[in-house]
Amino acid sequence: MKQSVKLIAGNWKMNGLAVNLGEAEALKQALEADPAACRVVLCPPATLIERMARLLGGGAVELGAQDCHASPSGAFTGSTSAGMLTDAGARLVILGHSERRAGFGETDADVAAKAETAVAAGLEPIICVGETLAQREAGEAVAVVSRQIAGSLPDSLAGRPFAVAYEPVWAIGTGRTPTLEEIEVVHRAIRLAIRARLGEAGDIAPILYGGSVKPDNAAEILAIPEVGGALVGGASLKAVDFLGIIRGV
Ligand code: PGA
Repeated sequence: MKQSVKLIAGNWKMNGLAVNLGEAEALKQALEADPAACRVVLCPPATLIERMARLLGGGAVELGAQDCHASPSGAFTGSTSAGMLTDAGARLVILGHSERRAGFGETDADVAAKAETAVAAGLEPIICVGETLAQREAGEAVAVVSRQIAGSLPDSLAGRPFAVAYEPVWAIGTGRTPTLEEIEVVHRAIRLAIRARLGEAGDIAPILYGGSVKPDNAAEILAIPEVGGALVGGASLKAVDFLGIIRGV
């Protein structure tokens, strides 16, 4: 199956002030000196996107956001539209992260609507799926992520650049990861679910693994068949840690 270049994305979540821009600068400089063998993306909080865009200046590090509203504009106090994100300099957007599904009640239909709007605004969505610990222990991991894929990917993704991230909820920020075999099984199931949803037009989408990816486990995870990259939370906040993961490709 045709595979696109691997993609390593850092999700800063609700962390990052102006004082932390030096980490993005350090990452940029390190990759200028020794280019990465993959795409590298930073997804800072929305308040930092424009400043980071100036700092990264169209270099090797791409810029993403962490969420967008499903509507292109309107009376939605406190929300950020996809068009605002592109205007600020973002080119990708994480959608349906489990922290938004669980903490903000986002459904598969909500995620699909956001993806539709994001694509229309020219953003490349990174759509997250993943089972809870209870679902895994009940043997439902594959069924859950397959259902999430079926419901969260709009038709408009066919033939457009996008990625899927498999992030078991119980592995996020916990230091726990599935076994390499467990990751492979779910990634193969996600590939089939994408094919079922979009046909061959979805084959080029990389499937990222996310959840406690660190410099010391990155290389073995990135070597698994059908792992097309990583979505990294905590270890993306420091350039030295994030680089340790990027060098695992
Ligand atoms: P983590 O987070 O790397 O801190 O586990 C991953 C994520 O939520 O994307």
